[in-house]
Amino acid sequence: MINTEKIRKDFPILGEKVNGNDLVYLDNAATSHKPKEVINSLVEYYEKYNSNVHRGVHALSIKATDEFEKARISVQKFINAKNSNEIIFTRNASESLNLIAYSWGKENIKLGDEIFITPFEHHSNIVPWQMLCKENEAILRYFPIDNNGDIDVDKFSKEISNKTKMVSITHMSNVLGTVLPIDKIIELAKKYNAVTVVDACQSVPHMPVDVQKIDSDFLCFSGHKMLGPTGIGVLHGKEDILNNMSPFLYGGDMISSVTYEDSKWNDLPYKFEAGTPNIADSIGLGTACEYLTKVGMDNIWKHEMELGQYAVEEISKLENFKILGNKSKELRGGVVSFIHDSIHPHDIGSLLDGFGIAIRTGHHCAMPLVRSYGVVAASRASFYLYNKKDEIDKLVEGLKKVEEYFK
Ligand SMILES: Cc1ncc(COP(=O)(O)O)c(C=O)c1O
Repeated sequence: MINTEKIRKDFPILGEKVNGNDLVYLDNAATSHKPKEVINSLVEYYEKYNSNVHRGVHALSIKATDEFEKARISVQKFINAKNSNEIIFTRNASESLNLIAYSWGKENIKLGDEIFITPFEHHSNIVPWQMLCKENEAILRYFPIDNNGDIDVDKFSKEISNKTKMVSITHMSNVLGTVLPIDKIIELAKKYNAVTVVDACQSVPHMPVDVQKIDSDFLCFSGHKMLGPTGIGVLHGKEDILNNMSPFLYGGDMISSVTYEDSKWNDLPYKFEAGTPNIADSIGLGTACEYLTKVGMDNIWKHEMELGQYAVEEISKLENFKILGNKSKELRGGVVSFIHDSIHPHDIGSLLDGFGIAIRTGHHCAMPLVRSYGVVAASRASFYLYNKKDEIDKLVEGLKKVEEYFK
């Protein structure tokens, strides 16, 4: 059990009024709020030891380097990576996925090879593979779907083959809240020696994730969705694979030596971190990992599954609303998307905003998936450790008022 009331006190923004109402923030799949500890770690860096890392011999630079590398270790522990060398700091998950496509994909994906992704992906886990397949004349394929609208792993097991060189899947859909059976999928991919990528943007912030257990080759996530600052993301990769890849960007810090004619690359993780890194926000992300660990990822996941289920039950009671995706408890986290049979999601979102309720409306950066439900936009409520059941009640009351307004 987590103490939501106590946790809420750590998040200054939750005390804000929006349009004269208490803020009800249900847009956590887009980005999360930040606790004071994270905000303070940024202020402390800028006020007390702002300096560049990995190059100075002076006290401030040494302290900045120590804190920056400590943050890497906090991230390593948070996802139970084997080694901190396997943690590459990027700007966000999108950059992490692009890094894989450029550095691994361009060299390893050949004419006629296949990459499998699911129909549930965020654009960030579609577009880099579309571009790679176009350039390298490979084939982008999508997982089959069963009658319930879930990934059909049995059918997939008949479609994967020696031509499959990569399988890139979301761990949890940012639209449906569905948790994918990544263990089975990764096991199958390994049988065919396909490289595996997990888009963990909606899982690492919300549930315990152990990269050694998952045994993915690459796994990506964004700091801003897990109480950390914007502008900092993570790529986890297995050391041997990262060592065999060419750099993504070139410049300072990613080299071990440079002559006028040629250059040699630095060791991991620096080979993939060209230029001055995002020092402050990396430190902020390290603090966020420690905060989440203190609360307990098992507790957070249980809390969010309960909220997700409660939201599904309550919204399902509203006659003219339809929930997208599988409603089953076992498969769903704290993300619920829904449509109304006649009111546009943007109208729903704008009217709810008038009551201080923040939800996301639109295609959720997953246009193909949302369109597969016969609509171009949907409303989405998404929860985090600081959300309460009575906020879902406020959402449902708000939805009733929206219907009343349009009558
Ligand atoms: C499942 C998923 N993948 C990728 C992303 C992209 O994250 P970012 O915009 O931080 O790169 C998101 C963000 O919404 C997401 O939910």
